[in-house]
Amino acid sequence: MTNQKFDASDDAVCNQSGNESFRTILARTFSRRTVVKGSLASAAGTFIASSAASSRSLASGQLGPDSKLLDFLPVSLAEGNGAIPTVSPDYDYQVFIPWGDPIEPSGPAYQWPPSAEDQRLQIGIGHDGMTYFPMSADSESFDRREIYRNAVNYGSKHGMLCINHEFGTNPHVLGKDAPESIDDVRASQHAHGVSVLEVKRYGRQWRLVNSKNARRVHVNTPVRFSGPAAKSDLLKTPNGNIPLGTVNNCSNGETPWGTYLTCEENFNGYFGASNRESQWTPSKEQERYGFSENGFGYGWHVYDRRFDLSDADFTNEENRFGWVVEIDPFDGTQVPVKRTALGRIKHEGATVVEAGDGRVVVYMGDDQRFDYIYKFVSKDPWRQMRSEGRDPLDDGTLYVARFNEDGSGVWLPLDMSVPVLAENFASQEEILVFTRLAADKVGATPMDRPEWIAVAPNQDVYCTLTNNSQRTEATGANPLAPNPDGHIIRWRDTEQHSGKKFVWEVFLISEETHGTEQSFADPDGIWIDPDGRLFIQTDGGQKDGLNNQMLVVDTRTKEIRRLLTGVTGDEVTGIAVTPDRRTMFVNLQHPGNGDPSVTNFPAPLDGVTVPRDCTLILTRKDGGIIGS
Ligand code: FEO
Ligand code: CA
Ligand code: CA
Repeated sequence: MTNQKFDASDDAVCNQSGNESFRTILARTFSRRTVVKGSLASAAGTFIASSAASSRSLASGQLGPDSKLLDFLPVSLAEGNGAIPTVSPDYDYQVFIPWGDPIEPSGPAYQWPPSAEDQRLQIGIGHDGMTYFPMSADSESFDRREIYRNAVNYGSKHGMLCINHEFGTNPHVLGKDAPESIDDVRASQHAHGVSVLEVKRYGRQWRLVNSKNARRVHVNTPVRFSGPAAKSDLLKTPNGNIPLGTVNNCSNGETPWGTYLTCEENFNGYFGASNRESQWTPSKEQERYGFSENGFGYGWHVYDRRFDLSDADFTNEENRFGWVVEIDPFDGTQVPVKRTALGRIKHEGATVVEAGDGRVVVYMGDDQRFDYIYKFVSKDPWRQMRSEGRDPLDDGTLYVARFNEDGSGVWLPLDMSVPVLAENFASQEEILVFTRLAADKVGATPMDRPEWIAVAPNQDVYCTLTNNSQRTEATGANPLAPNPDGHIIRWRDTEQHSGKKFVWEVFLISEETHGTEQSFADPDGIWIDPDGRLFIQTDGGQKDGLNNQMLVVDTRTKEIRRLLTGVTGDEVTGIAVTPDRRTMFVNLQHPGNGDPSVTNFPAPLDGVTVPRDCTLILTRKDGGIIGS
């Protein structure tokens, strides 16, 4: 489950805006049942079960409405709490790319604890969101038009895998509670970020291969800003240091033009204040993003001035984190780009879809108690923008969601055309750097920790709301108070994703599964396949004796089956699939919370060896589609 000390996203409430405009709108009290039923009724005929058109090149969903989507033997409650993973008897798994392995076979071998120099060339820790990018048959050409044409065959055996490394505690990475030198800080920083890997299947086994494009992007990698706030003074420091790095890379997205999006979530926890030069007190903006004197306890600020909030040379450094970052997996020399048009929040993920009018839409959750759900819509069709040399993620409108009680919803724009924003913000740059404060002003709906978002082929959009133990007042879209185990909501936008209105309903409430074979809590990672199977991954204390897990849901019938459980103390997160859907990559993050007395996975159980975050590669024993 989430490590309480080093990943404290669920410990705090940063939204003190009192932005319960929603609450005021609805002075009524709703029973959960009434709300769910009411919203279903209002959306009647709108939420159509899946089996619509396939998405891009993924093996198309051609199943009829009566086809059986789930046909595997589930992992039972009784089996779901091991020190090693348990998968359905119909499936196999391969352990892949554990933390500390070299990113290329020729790189430095794993040793614990890692040196800063070795870790810079090794797989990071805290495996989270990831995307598999299929290669074209001529793997040297990297022609994106070819990538998707050839994807289902050649591309299902050879591709680039981009994977996020969200966090690793000091005891797990360094073998001590706090860094004692700048070298220790660098080792920790190099364990964070992203790995770009070239992977290839030989028979039934996948391997890393040497690659001109394999690389690590970490906390000290040069990056650049793009979009409306790129030149803002709010992103400049007094000493003029160049922008560096990405951190707490949580979930992800992929663009239709073949690039990877990595999302900076709990960036606040890596900053602290030494107060060597002057006493630091948080600004209202810093408070809204949760900065504090000791952060999450990483201690980077003690040896690296860049992360010291009280160091006047580095004023504004913290504004350089909290962005969606674009990485080209097919160009190892590309400088990662922070896309300011998508706003600065604690970005969980960035789920990209092409709207009916050819514009590109990015759905994004801000994972903190009482924070919001956002979407970005590009100004023009993305193909047109790219053909004109414009970047679709640099020009468009950022919106935040309001969920009305009657099952309808509105996307509220965050720009200077909105009077309350023009009154309270100096510029669009300021709105984008302090997006949370802008969203507070327009009456967005505070949610129960929005995590991942998945778009179904029939245009339904699903979002996990992982939990909120501090909710005291239920609303339609957040129907439990408190909500310790979370729920999943779904909506459908007008104009095939690009419109300003939507209808919504609560899809699943975790609590209602407890005590049954379908038991789950704290939904976090999700992905929906072209046939309408929703994959749910969990991060939090499961009920009924279970470890964290991955389940598959038939979105037409709400039948739920458990495909795997992880190991004690881990989180199950991250989903990537090959175009033929015969291979799925899934991560086990922080097994045993890094404690060898809990588990040594993936090493054989010996009570000593440090457990390592890793990827499981899932295949069906009969070679069938994953989830079926
Ligand atoms: Fe990094 Fe909200 O999970
Ligand atoms: Ca998550
Ligand atoms: Ca989580």
